[in-house]
Amino acid sequence: MSISIDNARNIAALHSGTVSYVLEAVDGKYLVHRYFGRALRAYHGCGAPAYYKRAYSTEHPCSIPNVSFDDFPFEYPARGRGDFRIPALEAEQSGGVRVVEPLFRSWRAIEGKPALPGLPATFAGDTPAQTLEVVCEDPQAGLRVLLYYSVFEGLDIVARHQRLENIGGQTLTLHNVQSASLELSARPLELLSLYGTHAKEANRSRSPLHHGIQRIESVRGGSSPQHQPFFALLSPGATETAGEVYAMHLVYSGNFLAQAEADAFGNVRAQIGIHPEGFQWELKPGESFTTPEAILNYSAEGLNGMSRQFHRLYREHLMPQRFAGLERPVLLNSWEAMYYEVSLEKIEAQAELAKRAGMELFVLDDGWFRADNSSRTSMGDWQCNETKLPGGIRRAAELVHAKGLKFGLWFEPEAICKSSALYRMHPDWALHIPGYEPVEGRHEYLLDLTRPEVRDYLTGMLGSYLQGGMVDYIKWDMNRPLTDVCSTAFGQTRQAGIAHRYLLGLYEILERVTTAFPNVLIEGCSSGGARFDPGMLYYAAQNWASDNTDAFDRLTIQDGFSLLYPPMAIGAHVSITPNHQTGRSTSLDARYQAARLFDLGYELDLTQCSEGEREEIARQVAEHKPERAWMQTGIFSRHEVPNGNYVMWSIARPDRSECLALIFQKAYDPLCCHGNFKLLNLDADADYRETGSGQVYGGDELLQIGLTVPLVKEDLHPFVFRFQRI
Ligand code: DGJ
Repeated sequence: MSISIDNARNIAALHSGTVSYVLEAVDGKYLVHRYFGRALRAYHGCGAPAYYKRAYSTEHPCSIPNVSFDDFPFEYPARGRGDFRIPALEAEQSGGVRVVEPLFRSWRAIEGKPALPGLPATFAGDTPAQTLEVVCEDPQAGLRVLLYYSVFEGLDIVARHQRLENIGGQTLTLHNVQSASLELSARPLELLSLYGTHAKEANRSRSPLHHGIQRIESVRGGSSPQHQPFFALLSPGATETAGEVYAMHLVYSGNFLAQAEADAFGNVRAQIGIHPEGFQWELKPGESFTTPEAILNYSAEGLNGMSRQFHRLYREHLMPQRFAGLERPVLLNSWEAMYYEVSLEKIEAQAELAKRAGMELFVLDDGWFRADNSSRTSMGDWQCNETKLPGGIRRAAELVHAKGLKFGLWFEPEAICKSSALYRMHPDWALHIPGYEPVEGRHEYLLDLTRPEVRDYLTGMLGSYLQGGMVDYIKWDMNRPLTDVCSTAFGQTRQAGIAHRYLLGLYEILERVTTAFPNVLIEGCSSGGARFDPGMLYYAAQNWASDNTDAFDRLTIQDGFSLLYPPMAIGAHVSITPNHQTGRSTSLDARYQAARLFDLGYELDLTQCSEGEREEIARQVAEHKPERAWMQTGIFSRHEVPNGNYVMWSIARPDRSECLALIFQKAYDPLCCHGNFKLLNLDADADYRETGSGQVYGGDELLQIGLTVPLVKEDLHPFVFRFQRI
């Protein structure tokens, strides 16, 4: 890892792992992008952009003859001075002029990785890291833009963010400040993103990049199940194991825009950042604004190469480190067993059976504080309903702890309902627009987290449950999008920044809670995976992936999330059959196999299971517990399969001594029963024993020929193979 600065040639280059990133300050004033991709030993100047004078374009003072801003590869493009493609920066000066032109001033390399004030971000930890700081200024506007590029020893990642400073005498208004902008010279590319909806998250969308702008976004206040704040540009036909991938992922949990523009000449500009719609930030003289962080990930080894980098980065440099190396507890969650109808008797019975099955944590989900058995009441008051649970949460926790299990509790801290005592006392604490009845979502309004008194109330309320070790684990839910995004605590000129301030408020609460109670494991949840993003992962070491617990659908959902998140961060539960969401019946074995590589839990009424089923569950838990330690840090891969009737995943030890591979046959379909399933991450020169059959294979055979599997008359049939090097 290194950063080199060549002031004679106006070139700065970052090298890390197997990637390089190169910038140039043309004429010492225009900051342009030169290269991002497979590592270079050093950069001598290859690939200078084909600057060409284009008619019907603008002219600029530049030593390069005939420069045209129409296709100038600006590193952080601003609108209004001749570059008409998607801008990374739009700021308004007093008087309404919506143009700024920050020009290059200087750059320097800094040891380490700066934290982002008030925002979640990757950190270096004990790993050597370096950061390039580039300073650009527009003295007329009084705007300084500082661009940051961080690299970590051994990771093919560049982490970027910007800080904007008002260094003049006029108030500026920021309308658009993207976290990253990336130029790729003309070439055919495909665009991959993850789309979905509630209970059907993280589906792949892939299409050729066409001329013009392609974008995905969230304007829902949260990062949303509709689109993950991520996209990747792929070389055409890139697979799980081959081809080039340029990915961007935003460390942020709110409105975002991710877009790529292929201009008329085929050059590509890709950007990710806070969505400019509904965003406006007043920057008074002396004030600064920091963008969320964007992660740039380059892989020359297809999508698995990209995932390996994201997984390592997020495990070692983003999620709470207290839990990164800790074995995740096998849990029993009460939701699908009890829904809102919780009772001490049920809790005790479930906890007893969970303990017998070897589970380690009982999570009391929704219902414990509700005046009735629905989502209509009590949100915001957070008083246990002692008619349901005499003795309150303390008693429930005691019962669970007495069984030798840890105790987890569900909250939806951000929500408040109209009938709550809290709302009667503080109607202003809900986001609302004066004169409009706020819009309900799941019978709830949202608290105005921009208010310090609301943040204090929530931090204190959560602390009252967490102190003294009563609660070991929080499921932090959030079940509606943001509407009525207006805070009466702020004046008119600051209303367009409220969605972002809400997030800053949320992050502050999470920061305070995790600092005060570092041993409490938080599971992020938002009606499933609606706010599963790197921003939340910074505080919540795991995330409930979907309210859909059907193992069949989970193959797609977990496969999608696995593109980005390490399996240990993806909550996967074995639930009852027929499945409550889809009505589909699958075997207990298939449900377990679909969950076991991830953050394994159970979400079913153990008292309703047969003795045989409970024994099978106990066998599953006993199998999982000793192997989770290496699986949590192993290399997870998705495999290319012969046809769409199969899904194949594996986890291998980094030293290639062991590999667990799962192949799922989705349906009984004689047409789709041919083809081989190749292994990955094995040593070609070694022999391996498949422990189930005792059969010995060469690593090269497994890698180059692969396995075949029989056709089984069952939907969702799993085949399990464990290879050990001999
Ligand atoms: C939505 C979550 O995704 C579910 O798992 C459950 O916690 C319910 N909320 C409870 O209301």
